[in-house]
Amino acid sequence: MNADHAAAPAEIREVAVVGLGIMGAGIAEVLARSGRAVVVIEANHDFLARGLARLHSSLDKAVARGRLTHAEKALIVARVRAADSIAAGARDADLAIEAVPERLDLKRAIFAELDQACRADTILATNTSSLSVTALAACTRHPDRVAGLHFFNPVPVMKLVEVISTVLTAPGTAQVLGALVRDLGKTPVEAGDRAGFVVNPLLLPYLNHAARLLETGHASREDIDKAATGGFGLPMGPLALLDLIGLDTSLSVLEALRAELGGSRYQPAPLLRRLVEAGLTGRKAGRGFYDYEPARAPAASAGDPSHNVPPAPATVALIGDPALAADLGNVLDAAGISVVRAPGPEASLIVAAAQPGRRVLDAALASGCPADVVGIHLAGRPGAKPELAELIVTDLTAPGAAAAAGALTAELGLDAVTSRDRPGFLAAAMIYPQLNDAVRMVQDGYATPPDIDTAMVLGCGYPRGPLQMLDDVRPAIVRDVLSAMHASTGDPAFAPAPLLAEHAASGTPFRCS
Ligand code: CAA
Repeated sequence: MNADHAAAPAEIREVAVVGLGIMGAGIAEVLARSGRAVVVIEANHDFLARGLARLHSSLDKAVARGRLTHAEKALIVARVRAADSIAAGARDADLAIEAVPERLDLKRAIFAELDQACRADTILATNTSSLSVTALAACTRHPDRVAGLHFFNPVPVMKLVEVISTVLTAPGTAQVLGALVRDLGKTPVEAGDRAGFVVNPLLLPYLNHAARLLETGHASREDIDKAATGGFGLPMGPLALLDLIGLDTSLSVLEALRAELGGSRYQPAPLLRRLVEAGLTGRKAGRGFYDYEPARAPAASAGDPSHNVPPAPATVALIGDPALAADLGNVLDAAGISVVRAPGPEASLIVAAAQPGRRVLDAALASGCPADVVGIHLAGRPGAKPELAELIVTDLTAPGAAAAAGALTAELGLDAVTSRDRPGFLAAAMIYPQLNDAVRMVQDGYATPPDIDTAMVLGCGYPRGPLQMLDDVRPAIVRDVLSAMHASTGDPAFAPAPLLAEHAASGTPFRCS
């Protein structure tokens, strides 16, 4: 066979990994663990040393947890060798994976070098999060053997790999990569070459929105993260996740998404940009939204208001949405707190059973004593025991009433977050726009509901995918909250997608199961 038209190698035995940052080190680790020979290539000696140290420490953790023996670790380490140039390291590779920072000029230069150094049948893959795979393929002689292979952080843990084919990629190339991914114990999801593929156009705008909620004073850093974990069962909150991914990487991905897809959802929050400018790029820098240097993290002081929690009120007046008030009344009754149905002298706190699509302020004004009113919304899976209470303070709520509501939820044994009185409050305001983005992706014909759900479950550890969540909450409820968010902000990104409006009107779920 003419070397210029050689088919992709049927088996991947040796892999060159270019760039040994967080992602490159993780990719090298999983490949070496699978028994393959791995050449790690870094031009910068410091980066190489840091990347190898990361790989070793990840293996050490596995040994400490009894997942790997010392002998197995030694075998894995022996499969990894380092090279300081692509010419020296990639010659014999069946597959070369580029995992350098998200700059198209840099990645193009690496692809041009790989094209020169590798065999004609070597598959060239990029771990880019959002740049054009086609643009990289176009600077090689064998674009049919170029594809995207997008891993998720932490690579040893997350089970998803997106396999991206361009219009030039040969079907055989994607098949070999899909088989490799399965052999690594992970699940491939095939995607076309569109900025961010399946996961990032859903994940990054949500993370960006959380940063914006923080900078606009909608809620505190801790409450934003707690609303995502407690309200929707996500494995970590959005600000902690930004720190894990890296704020600089997140910013680059948002900029690439904005350049290709447009729209306010991808416009980076100024706070995100400022933190990157300050070098506070997250865990890898020791500080991002959170501080990872224990000595610097502020300790709770005696003056901390949480040390002076008032007693829970013995009697509360319950107002607001009748159905939600009945549910909340049951929870209060069960805790032995007496409930009256109208404000009066016996109740020191007025609780408005709050609906995420409605303003608490309206109920507060109607009560005649708005300073005593706090909205409470119980978040969690429909039909299941509530896991989180959202406390909604209006512009007129007195600080004493907010503190009493906090004491009340503590008495109920519920985790609580405090939100401003905006449509969606906190948990739904963060998550429902992501559900809408997922519907838009289906509407565009880019990915199916099962593929989207699989990608978010395996790539981001979601307990359920966004379309399953949407069905569980019900499309009509999500549509109503989004409409309220759209009306109050004027931001077209929050307008319910036409396909969501159709499902809401017909009552048809997105998932069959
Ligand atoms: N490297 C290797 N292993 C790690 C690890 C790391 N950095 N972090 C955690 N682990 C392992 C632990 O060793 C442990 O393994 P065992 O069960 O074998 O002992 C397991 O993961 C669970 O760890 P922990 O109990 O310490 O931590 P946890 O339960 O809090 O889970 C988490 C940590 C896996 C990170 C979890 O919080 C999670 O799934 N978070 C979501 C992460 C996510 O969304 N990733 C995608 C980011 S987007 C991206 O990467 C793409 C992009 O282009 C931007």
